[in-house]
Amino acid sequence: MTGKKQPLLMAEAHRHMPQGVAENYRYWGDEQTVFVAQSKGCEFTDCDGKTFTDFRLGYGPIILGYRDERVDRAVVEQITQRGTLSGFSTALDIEVVKQIKALCPQIEKVRFANSGTEAVMGAVRTARGFTGRDRIAIVEGCFHGLYDEMMWKSDVENWDPQGTTAPPVIPFGGGVPARTRELVDIIRLNDFESLESLFARHGDTLACFVLEPIIGNAGSIAATPAWLQRLRDLCTQHGALLLLDEVKSGFRVAKGGAQELYGIHADLTTYAKAMGNGYPVAAFGGRADVMDVVGSHKGGVVHGGTYTANLVAISAAHATLSILANTDALQTVARTGAQIRDLLGRVFTAAGIQHAFAGPPAMFGVHFTPEVPANYRDWRVTNSSLYRTFAWNLIERGVMLEPDSREPWFICEAHRHVDLGWLEDIATQSIKSACTAHK
Ligand SMILES: Cc1ncc(COP(=O)(O)O)c(C=O)c1O
Repeated sequence: MTGKKQPLLMAEAHRHMPQGVAENYRYWGDEQTVFVAQSKGCEFTDCDGKTFTDFRLGYGPIILGYRDERVDRAVVEQITQRGTLSGFSTALDIEVVKQIKALCPQIEKVRFANSGTEAVMGAVRTARGFTGRDRIAIVEGCFHGLYDEMMWKSDVENWDPQGTTAPPVIPFGGGVPARTRELVDIIRLNDFESLESLFARHGDTLACFVLEPIIGNAGSIAATPAWLQRLRDLCTQHGALLLLDEVKSGFRVAKGGAQELYGIHADLTTYAKAMGNGYPVAAFGGRADVMDVVGSHKGGVVHGGTYTANLVAISAAHATLSILANTDALQTVARTGAQIRDLLGRVFTAAGIQHAFAGPPAMFGVHFTPEVPANYRDWRVTNSSLYRTFAWNLIERGVMLEPDSREPWFICEAHRHVDLGWLEDIATQSIKSACTAHK
C-alpha cells in the first residue's frame, strides 16, 4: 500500500469511464493521470496534496488565474439573483457583444456557444449558408475541435521528414465518416505554393478557409504576416470567407487577439477559452452581412442550443472581458511570459541546447531546434523527445505543463507571483537531468 489516493481513484475511474477519464486528452497513463483537488491563482493541488505551478491552465482558458474572485463574485451574484438559464434573452447578452466589439473591431455581430467546437461548427455553417458552398480548407497542425469533418489531420507524427512523400491525411480516430474527408482540403502553413494551388483548384468552391493564425495546437507556430495577407487577398478574390479560429489566441495574445497583432481581419472569428477565464463560454461573429444569414427566415442558418448564453457563461464573460478591457492584465501576462521565456532561454543556452521560441509571450511554444519552425512539418524535426523528458522532469518538480511540445506554455495574470529564481532553478535541474537521460 502506498497510501496514495491517485491509484485508488484511477482504478475506480476505470470501472466507470472509458479509459478512466471524462475525455480522452486527460488520460496520461494509469500512474500519471492527474486528479485535481483544488486550485487558486496559477497553482493547483492534486489529490495527494502535491502543489503545481501550472503553465497548462486547462489548455488555455485561465487568463487571470484560477478562482479569480472578481469573476467568481460576478457569476455568483448573477445566478443567485436571476438563475442560471431561462431559455430567453437577457440584457447581458447585448452587453457582452458590445464588449467583444469594442475589443475586436472586425466583429459586427455575434452569436454565443458553449465550447470552441460548437463555435467553430456555428461559424462554418454560417460560412456555408452565406456562400452556398460546402468545401472548407484547413492547415496542418491546427485543431478546430472534435466534430467529424474537422477530425482529419496530416499524420506528421508518423511521417518520415527525410522521405519524398507528403504525410498522409488520416482521421483522428474511429467513428469519423470517410465521406466527411471529401469536404476538407489541408495545406501547409506559410507555404505560398500550396496556398496558390489550393485557390487555383478550389477557390471558387470554398465556403471558408479556417485557420489558427498562431497555432496554439502546434507549439504556437505562427503564420507570417505576408502569408496571412496573401490568404486574406485570395479569400476576398474568390468569394471564400476567412474564418480565423481564435479559440486559444482570442483575448489572450492581445485584447483584440491575433488579428490585432497582424492588423489583418477575418470575415468570421471564433472565440472561447480566455473570454470566460475558465467558465464554459464561446462565441462566433464577424461581418454583419455574413452573420445575418443566421436566423429563422426562409433558408436562414440554424443556430441554437439550450445552454447558449446561459447566465453562468455570460456573466463570466462579462466580468472577464471587463477586466481585460479596463486593466493592464494582458500587459502583465505578456511581461511575465517574456520573463519566463527569457529565463528558459538562459537555462537552455547554459545547457548547450539549441532552442527557439514560437508565438507571443502569452502562449509561447518551446522547440528544441535552431530555428523557429515555419509549419507543422518543421515541428517534426525538432527534438520533441528531449522536450518531453524535460517536461516530465518539471512536472516531477512541481511545474505543470503538457509534456507534448505542440502545446504552448500558457501564462495568466496570477503568474506574476511566481518566484522566477525558483523556476530557473527547477528548469536548470530538469534540463540537466533530461540531457543526461538522452546522452
Ligand atoms: C483553436 C481551437 N479551436 C477549437 C477548439 C475546440 O474547443 P473546445 O475544446 O472548447 O471544444 C480548440 C480546443 O483546444 C482550439 O484550440
